[in-house]
Amino acid sequence: MTDTPIYLVGLAGKPLGKLRPSVLELVAEAEEVARSRNLAKRAALPAFLDEYLETEGYRVAPDELKRAIADFNRVCRGEALSAIQIICTPEQSTIADKSFENQFLKQRINMRANQTLPQVQQFFEVERVYPDDKAKTLYESLMGLDEHKKRLLVELEMLLYPQRLEVWSRKHYQGRVLRLCEQLHNRTPLILLQGDVGTGKTALAETIGDALARQIDNKAKVHLLKINSQVRGTGLVGEMSDLIVQAFAQAEARAASLKEPTLLLLDEADALAARRDTQQMHHEDKAGLNTLLQRLDNLRLAGLAIAVIFITNRPDALDPAIRRRAALDLFFERPADEVRADIIRRSLPELEWTEEQIAKLVHLTGSQEPKNEGISFTASDLTNRLFMGALREAFSQKRELKADDLLNQASHLIPTPKIGII
Ligand SMILES: Nc1ncnc2c1ncn2[C@@H]1O[C@H](COP(=O)(O)OP(=O)(O)O)[C@@H](O)[C@H]1O
Ligand SMILES: [Mg+2]
Repeated sequence: MTDTPIYLVGLAGKPLGKLRPSVLELVAEAEEVARSRNLAKRAALPAFLDEYLETEGYRVAPDELKRAIADFNRVCRGEALSAIQIICTPEQSTIADKSFENQFLKQRINMRANQTLPQVQQFFEVERVYPDDKAKTLYESLMGLDEHKKRLLVELEMLLYPQRLEVWSRKHYQGRVLRLCEQLHNRTPLILLQGDVGTGKTALAETIGDALARQIDNKAKVHLLKINSQVRGTGLVGEMSDLIVQAFAQAEARAASLKEPTLLLLDEADALAARRDTQQMHHEDKAGLNTLLQRLDNLRLAGLAIAVIFITNRPDALDPAIRRRAALDLFFERPADEVRADIIRRSLPELEWTEEQIAKLVHLTGSQEPKNEGISFTASDLTNRLFMGALREAFSQKRELKADDLLNQASHLIPTPKIGII
């Protein structure tokens, strides 16, 4: 059995200290006390741990003790956790204001009552549940992403339904669970979608839950919580870390109360997870990033069915520590010639296309066409700008839409410039 250290952290994710005894040592001590006081083992550990932390000068945040005990039990059952983190309060050195502490404690107490908090709106701009037919249609309309879809589905299934991996293992290895499957628990449930604008990252992240739910079985549900990008805060000292802690705490509480697999989506993650070594990076952002990293590690320890998806248009801007942790890192590119042809055919099936017209449109939207200066159209350049422009033209002239309208539009539209390289 491997033993596990215990770290104490403050509300804002700041490390406060490491306990001298490890998990197994504390459990042994608690059992000793239980024997001497004639207590049930089960009741002894929480009481002992609470007392122990108090004598060490720490006050444990509500709910944390319960969560830590659950982790203790996992260690006792032989699970290899790299560490257990316990959130303590107050964090004297950084929290000057009692009202945040009170608010935080109140929220955690409320969460225990299994309620949706009114504050949820602040953090989550969208909450969806799948299956959902609209999502299915959008998912199926995303062209050229079959490989990405497949890899994302497999990864999410392994992260969110570990029991299915176990079933697979038992079936093929005479009822045994491969060691490799157990190691899966140690991975950070983080997926990165990176690449150029308008290539379907947001659309895929917001619809993959539907494909996943349908793939599991006809009763499965998957939830999506999208973190409001305003979570970055207004730059007040301590605010960003506090917001991240709260956003994750709320997501965890929400996922625990939903009792169903949950995707936590952070679009434009580079705003939060920017490289720590950029000179311009404000001290406050650094603290926020550390908190973010820590909450990601915490998710793994908490054992909840949550997978976090980060999206960024600027891969270079992401901190390497974030990239290292990702279980899957998918890169999105502008659609190649055949993919653009598919998008055209699929979006406008009613037009009677000749092969020649399609080929011409593909060329006009490709990197070989001089006006495009070496870059091709993004998928959203096609769907949102080119197709819409042609439609507007035909509609305003009160006539039918023709392939020529598209060719006309394409001959003077230029693609969205690349970002992320500058
Ligand atoms: N691969 C694709 N196939 C078809 N349409 C796409 C594709 N990628 C993007 N689109 C269209 O462009 C819109 C915007 O894409 P989006 O997902 O917001 O791009 P990103 O998040 O990568 O910037 C989508 O809603 C969809 O209509
Ligand atoms: Mg996007």
